[in-house]
Amino acid sequence: MESTRLRDRPTDLDPLRLPAHVAVIMDGNGRWAKGRGQPRIFGHRRGVDILKDLLRCCKDWGIGTLTAYAFSTENWGRPIEEVDFLMLLFERVLRRELREMMLEGVKISFVGDLQALPRSLQSEIEQAMTQTKDNTAVEFVVATNYGGRQEILQACRQLAAQAQRGELDPAQINDALFEKHLYTAGTQDPDLLIRTSGEMRLSNFLLWQMAYTELYVTDTLWPDFDRAEFHQALLAYQARERRFGRVETKK
Ligand code: FPP
Repeated sequence: MESTRLRDRPTDLDPLRLPAHVAVIMDGNGRWAKGRGQPRIFGHRRGVDILKDLLRCCKDWGIGTLTAYAFSTENWGRPIEEVDFLMLLFERVLRRELREMMLEGVKISFVGDLQALPRSLQSEIEQAMTQTKDNTAVEFVVATNYGGRQEILQACRQLAAQAQRGELDPAQINDALFEKHLYTAGTQDPDLLIRTSGEMRLSNFLLWQMAYTELYVTDTLWPDFDRAEFHQALLAYQARERRFGRVETKK
């Protein structure tokens, strides 16, 4: 398996020019399963394994933060059986993986409107975040019931309420202050977004945070996105930056 062949960072990657933060839109689980004559949930299960190995890969190769879009505010519109399955899957994975996250030094956090999630999932989330908060090997951010517009709107509401109470002069609102009111406060913006299965859309993901993020779209379906694929994405990222560097030095 690729994960064992590529345990060490490939030597053609410049360790000094790796993205510090990678975000992923894990698209294509359903199609992958369908292509194998299996139900969609089969693809989501495999998707978890892929995500887990990608997180370990970030740790092994020296990438500090991985953010994964696990469930969008729009995903509630899927068939109820699939939504229920995903909620249970998140809960089971959290419970099952917590011990290993502690051993591996993973700090996990969640972004999104968590209040609308099932109570039992909320408590697993709380426990995982509290237990792992001092870990430093790699940061894993899971976007669950997340919507970029909703995130921006709730930040606006908080700031407007402060202004209404006379605690804030609207002229003081700048990037730094605004960011403090986002779910992602304290996490640096992604350097690279990877989207699998060929879709060229942001799908309401980290709209504020991705203003300057490099985008990488591959036709590969998420359940096939292994370390070799990640390697290709990182090479493409580094090539883009290197081209930009050459233009600058020629001037
Ligand atoms: C998109 O594929 C995938 C999802 C909506 C779910 C992704 C969730 C996971 C892989 C689980 C993550 C778990 C944790 C605990 C972080 P799709 O269903 O849209 O596939 P399609 O585009 O082929 O229909």
